[in-house]
Amino acid sequence: MTNDQDPLFSVAGLGVLVAGGAGGLGLPISRELCRRDARVVIADIDEGKAVACARTLADAGGWAAGIGIDVVATESCAAAIRQVEGRCGGIDGLVNASGIYRVASALELTDADWERSIDINLTGAFRLARAAGASMVPRGRGSIVTITSVSSLVANRNYAAYAASKAGAAHVTRVLATEWAEAGVRVNALGPAVTPTPLAAEIVGDPAMREAALARIPMRRFGTPEDLLATIVFLLAPGSRFVTGQVLYVDGGRTIS
Ligand SMILES: NC(=O)c1ccc[n+]([C@@H]2O[C@H](COP(=O)([O-])OP(=O)(O)OC[C@H]3O[C@@H](n4cnc5c(N)ncnc54)[C@H](O)[C@@H]3O)[C@@H](O)[C@H]2O)c1
Repeated sequence: MTNDQDPLFSVAGLGVLVAGGAGGLGLPISRELCRRDARVVIADIDEGKAVACARTLADAGGWAAGIGIDVVATESCAAAIRQVEGRCGGIDGLVNASGIYRVASALELTDADWERSIDINLTGAFRLARAAGASMVPRGRGSIVTITSVSSLVANRNYAAYAASKAGAAHVTRVLATEWAEAGVRVNALGPAVTPTPLAAEIVGDPAMREAALARIPMRRFGTPEDLLATIVFLLAPGSRFVTGQVLYVDGGRTIS
């Protein structure tokens, strides 16, 4: 759709898997990548929604396909990568925008919520990156971006499970970056602050939580999905070719306050 892209920031022609691509952040990211002529495979545990989202993007003139994935299942992650390889001739980019948000005071946090948070947000991010890396490393190129969170760095009350999962995902990003750097595969993360999506509905909808969250963001507003797009494009595009193992916080200053 756009034919006049600066090569440094061009994602045109890249085959990109967006996991959690039917979500509040995943869909705007997928839409922007389509608008920039990437070939986007939207993968989500809600397969019907993934297919519907892809159809909408394709109807608007983009190249998009929708598939199901469960990042909790190793074979499902491998199958999603195979789908991208088959449809795009190889996987150039992975954006992992899947995730869940379970919060409770440490004394009330259940084992089930702890384990589910770790299984999806941390182990899921690893499973999918590992599957993508198995395809990218032999090809000698690729860029992986995991959406972590400001919670990778800051400590909020009631966030033990979520923060542990996000801190772990940020550190796995660094470890994978060291393992795959020589092969030309880059691994980075993007850490947003609170962004109104279904995942953050509880924070944004409760007046007291909303005010407390805003008070911690120096720019005094929540993020928007659109705030993240330039960073995603940058991390997938050639201009970031010497950037690996980084967590870029796009957070209105949340992590410096
Ligand atoms: N919205 C925020 O305030 C915020 C802030 C920081 C980080 N994040 C992170 O960004 C990511 C996306 O969040 P969002 O706001 O778009 O949430 P969202 O709930 O709108 O979207 C998450 C998507 O992940 C999918 N998903 C859930 N479990 C899955 C599984 N097992 N396998 C595959 N897909 C699965 C959901 O179906 C959904 O489409 C999450 O990792 C979240 O932790 C969000």
